[in-house]
Amino acid sequence: FRTLDSADVSNKRVLLRVDLNVPMENGKVSDATRIERVLPTIREIADKGGKVVLLAHFGRPKGRDLKETLRPVAAVVAEHLGRPVGFAEDCVGPAAKAAVDAMKPGDVVLLENTRFHPEEEKNDPVFVKSLAENGDLWVSDAFSAAHRAHASTEGLGHVLPAYAGRTMQAEVEALAHALEAPKRPVLAVVGGAKVSSKLELLGNLVKKVDILVIGGGMANTFLAAQGKAVGKSLCEKDLLDTARSILETAKGANCEIVLPVDATVASEFKAHAANKVVSVDAVGPDDMILDIGPASIETVKGKLAQAKTLVWNGPFGAFELEPFDTGTNAVAREAARLTKAGQLLSVAGGGDTVSALNHAGAAEDFSYVSTAGGAFLEWLEGKPLPGVEILRLR
Ligand code: 3PG
Repeated sequence: FRTLDSADVSNKRVLLRVDLNVPMENGKVSDATRIERVLPTIREIADKGGKVVLLAHFGRPKGRDLKETLRPVAAVVAEHLGRPVGFAEDCVGPAAKAAVDAMKPGDVVLLENTRFHPEEEKNDPVFVKSLAENGDLWVSDAFSAAHRAHASTEGLGHVLPAYAGRTMQAEVEALAHALEAPKRPVLAVVGGAKVSSKLELLGNLVKKVDILVIGGGMANTFLAAQGKAVGKSLCEKDLLDTARSILETAKGANCEIVLPVDATVASEFKAHAANKVVSVDAVGPDDMILDIGPASIETVKGKLAQAKTLVWNGPFGAFELEPFDTGTNAVAREAARLTKAGQLLSVAGGGDTVSALNHAGAAEDFSYVSTAGGAFLEWLEGKPLPGVEILRLR
């Protein structure tokens, strides 16, 4: 698709869609990763003499609700950018127009939360036109919101010349390397609590990857599907048939499924709870599986050593409670080591994954860590993302 290389931004009003849906604690941005990721695109456009008009959503407000204003985020973007960032109280209408009309080449302005208008999520063509009035071209750098076909993430691409920003470009390239034309064998690691939230993902992955390692709470459902006792562990009993059919599909597609062979169990869900390692054939009625055990860690490390490409989504155990972060830490660090040694291309993303890898101190050494949650999952499920599709050259 068209990237910034072919955009003439000089003296143009550039509507730049970014993802500033950042976590906040007590009114302060608690993780600025998404802000950091869009700085190169903002700088490049500003340095080429463009007027950078930032569009973004925040939270899921129902109409204009100042609890979800982007105003404090503008200040944080300015701080990280090291340049002033203006703010307009609305993303359309007189306030937006006045702010944009006053801009000089190189200026940066953030417009208020696009979701203050319900028409944003409806991708309403009249609203798209109102947004487009303040821009000569549209650049999307919001991969993590690209699973939404909203006015600012997709609609604008129908009415303005559309380009991918640098982060969008990097993200799509990294993901394409991992699943579209990957170096094989490809190993996928899928963890997290529930099979139910990742059914489509597992169904798609078994058809695409060579080895699928299943960890976290969802592994218990697979163990139970094989007739093993899981005690008090998290387990979705109504999905045993579904788990069996995923195992069958994998067999037919020549995808090797790797499940834990041992587990660290405790009788309560608490940091430093008394715990022991047991074989998955010996889980007692009061045991709660909170992590994979040492033999499983070695098995997964062995699989990593065979792989050329790794796709990772979801932690292995209750990584937020020590010592049940042991499995996630060990596997993440081994993946990071192999990546650093040039033996592995490693891509990770989605929900808890980034914090699990950060916790393990492994994120830095992965080839690519996506800031996307839902968009990363939909991509793993094999679904086209509307905010990416609109950027493809037609
Ligand atoms: C995200 O945080 O994953 C994106 O910004 C999308 O937000 P949404 O799930 O509210 O659409």
